[in-house]
Amino acid sequence: MQAPCATAAIPVQSIVSNNMQTVTTIAELRQVVGAARRAGKSIGFVPTMGNLHQGHLNLLITARERTDFVVSSIFVNPLQFNAKDDLERYPRTLEEDQQSLIEYGCDLLFAPSESEVYSSDRASQTFVEVPGISEMYCGASRPGHFRGVTTIVNKLFNLVQPDLAVFGKKDFQQLHIIRRMVTDLSMPVELVGVDTARAESGLALSSRNGYLTKDELKRAPVFYAQLRTIHDALVGGSDDFEGLIKQAIESLERESFKPDYIHIVRRSDLQPATPKDRELVVLAAAFLGQARLIDNLEVDC
Ligand code: PAJ
Repeated sequence: MQAPCATAAIPVQSIVSNNMQTVTTIAELRQVVGAARRAGKSIGFVPTMGNLHQGHLNLLITARERTDFVVSSIFVNPLQFNAKDDLERYPRTLEEDQQSLIEYGCDLLFAPSESEVYSSDRASQTFVEVPGISEMYCGASRPGHFRGVTTIVNKLFNLVQPDLAVFGKKDFQQLHIIRRMVTDLSMPVELVGVDTARAESGLALSSRNGYLTKDELKRAPVFYAQLRTIHDALVGGSDDFEGLIKQAIESLERESFKPDYIHIVRRSDLQPATPKDRELVVLAAAFLGQARLIDNLEVDC
């Protein structure tokens, strides 16, 4: 790994660069990244599905601070969607995203088509899967979702071969599963998790917030508020996990949410916590209208 890049201390607004290249093929991606590597640059990577907001851009800032050449990808990965209509309605805003990436100092954007990434022979697609944890929580509600995530992230890591890759803690279970994949398969990449970016109301920024109506947007912050209530009770010494979860679910239902799950788990392995555990995370998912919101909060008891 190279020394942190010299632009690290420069405020983001002043690192506007018009040099970002967008490539759509694997051959071009390999060529440009290869040239950067031969020039002695360390490679940072931020994979996304686009429709970028400040949460994504914070990952770019971290990659920029820690590496010399920053690659981002935008690919709405069909393998991680269960329902075709969810895949089809996922927001695609490539031009705006390119502008944001330029502003935040991205050097290379990889924006491939589906056929560039996957063979049409889907029936014999190779998968990478972290068993067990991939079937819990969000994995229980979205069968095959995490297998789709680990497969594409593995593939993107093979293509970019980054020294460092940055992910959001907003998708806490996803980050945990990717860490496990990297450890189990001895992948030579350092993973960095970045805190969740939130609106002033506390609502975690998400591309799926765009599915909320005006009225739902007003109610959405209740989700985070309930996580905070659980957090404060745990820090205050409560070990009535069941009771805290029940109260939160009732409060969400009163605001017309359809809670999917709330779990209090150990941060180290995401298994159900016991009152002896000190480092916890509250994981939650809930539907509000057309949107499935996920959020989490780390708790140090
Ligand atoms: P996407 O939902 O576009 O998110 C890309 C990255 O941004 C993920 O690491 C996610 O955790 C992070 N992120 C999203 N919202 C955030 C927020 N409010 N604060 C901080 N980070 C946030 O996650 C995916 O795409 C895909 O599963 C992917 C990893 C790209 C594989 O297809």
